[in-house]
Amino acid sequence: MKINILTLFPEMFNGVFTDSILGRAREKGILDINILNIRDFTLDKAKKVDDTPYGGGAGMVMFCQPIFSALEKIYGLEGKSKNKKILYMSPRGKVINENILRDLAVEEEITILCGHYEGVDQRVLEYWDMEEVSIGDYVLTGGELPAMVLVDSMSRFIPDVLGTMESATEESIYSGLLEYDQYTKPFDFKGLKVPEVLKGGNHKAIKLWRLENSIRRTAKFRRDLLDKWKINKTGTEDLTKKEKNNIEKILMEL
Ligand code: ADE
Repeated sequence: MKINILTLFPEMFNGVFTDSILGRAREKGILDINILNIRDFTLDKAKKVDDTPYGGGAGMVMFCQPIFSALEKIYGLEGKSKNKKILYMSPRGKVINENILRDLAVEEEITILCGHYEGVDQRVLEYWDMEEVSIGDYVLTGGELPAMVLVDSMSRFIPDVLGTMESATEESIYSGLLEYDQYTKPFDFKGLKVPEVLKGGNHKAIKLWRLENSIRRTAKFRRDLLDKWKINKTGTEDLTKKEKNNIEKILMEL
């Protein structure tokens, strides 16, 4: 997958896109990340990329020309064809979720525009038919961190980005519950012990313990998710009648 990123701060992407899983995906050729510095495209003598907003108000607005020129370099002078995806990172946008990430992960090429200051001229968004996407209901100082969050979380759904040991869909959050508690060696650290059940090789008991742990954690921190999960109870299909009754009892108590 090719990912073009339009930004005023290309250095911010160092590390995030060169190390760990994303770095490995780039080396393997699964991800081709192309970072363009918007300032390189400005025709302004002073290298300006923003100006005061029409109608007044605080802050500066990124103007059309450099962003148009950068996009024309990617898509050609005739503009964007229908099936190309261009995203604009913005707190005004649709908040990303699993479905949005899965849909993006099958694209051949996407482009992400990172905004700054008070935003970008609306004509950029409309002419290039951009989708505004947000990473949550809070405001960051620019679109770079949100773009990194988007690329990282989306990449996990691209086949072969994760190793065989990791699986994007096995993450508990995607089944509707929060992830259960994890432990590793030693069993006893300064008297702090690992739950006994995890030590034995009883896979069924471990699975049940993890499910109960996930349910309790979700009830405590994300009641909204638990209420949704209760409708289908994903992950309980293989349980015996007795085990299902036990889960029902726990749910009643919470
Ligand atoms: N830019 C600033 N805040 C943002 C957010 N929450 N999501 C996406 N882009 C942003």
